[in-house]
Amino acid sequence: MSVPSQMQDILCRMPKAELHIHIEGSLEPERIFALARRNGVTLPYADVESLRRAYAFTDLQSFLDIYYAGASVLLTEQDFYDMTRDYLERALADNVRHTEIFFDPQTHTARGVPFGVVIDGILRACQDMQGQISSSLIMCFLRHLSEEDAFLTLDAAMPHLAKIIGVGLDSSERGHPPEKFARVFARCRELGLRIVAHAGEEGPPEYIRNALDILHAERIDHGVRCLEDAELTARLAREQIPLTVCPLSNLKLCVVKDMAQHNLPQLLDAGLLAMVNSDDPAYFGGYLNQNFLALFAALPLEIRHAQVLARNSFAASFLPAARKQALLDEVDAFFAKIA
Ligand code: ADE
Ligand code: ZN
Repeated sequence: MSVPSQMQDILCRMPKAELHIHIEGSLEPERIFALARRNGVTLPYADVESLRRAYAFTDLQSFLDIYYAGASVLLTEQDFYDMTRDYLERALADNVRHTEIFFDPQTHTARGVPFGVVIDGILRACQDMQGQISSSLIMCFLRHLSEEDAFLTLDAAMPHLAKIIGVGLDSSERGHPPEKFARVFARCRELGLRIVAHAGEEGPPEYIRNALDILHAERIDHGVRCLEDAELTARLAREQIPLTVCPLSNLKLCVVKDMAQHNLPQLLDAGLLAMVNSDDPAYFGGYLNQNFLALFAALPLEIRHAQVLARNSFAASFLPAARKQALLDEVDAFFAKIA
């Protein structure tokens, strides 16, 4: 099924925010090989085509193994700048007006890359593009590592705290529940950082509940498994906890068998504050507009759903109230013109 051209036009042109993008997941194979050459890093793949052929994932872990290998080419501040600039230009082309970008410092500090090199390269690209697309940074802790390691990462981040808006929790979900990181997230809250966490992607609804109750997460990344628990779903609706849903990611990581079975329509029908994001667009077959097009091609979604999804993306952001309202007004003005 394809999306009618008027609908395609609406989805691509409507103003939107992206709240769930791992910057390391925006590294395209061509950029990976260019950086490998520039830095003299040897990759376990002969060329771009053989790397791309390896993008046949069976679950989250099978993806993460390749994602961390891809990130191993990032060494200098300019590398982090180039990667971030690539993403921001693509997001801008998709009419993304604001983005909240995840980065995984431990993936780099473990290889001897200083924290400051990582964050300053990413931030410089954000600043250079600020006039066209606004952005904030969210530092993620890798949940397959220890809480002690997360605390060391927070120590390294201390001189740079003003550069980040919040912290998140990502990597291998199963077997690494939110409560493993209770103390470090409590410290982050004391420091005034905003809190988000991946939960309910592969992990059970209980992980979503514990991310809320123990980590005090303000947004849940993915969260699509919440529908298995009616009481939790009712709570997420009542408290308007945002879910940053990533359709192509769910498809590529076999969280859903086929896009026609994605539960985004049910999440919206249940009154949840869900919106669309790209997660790791270089690995999952598309940036934000491709996610919208794939979703609307497979499911009975209409213009009113597009407007709700665009509104939710700004409503769930950590933008200051005045800019948030201005962008919500822009969404409404865009759709008023269509009607
Ligand atoms: N890191 C990058 N992408 C991720 C995802 N979809 N889930 C958990 N950790 C991630
Ligand atoms: Zn993610």
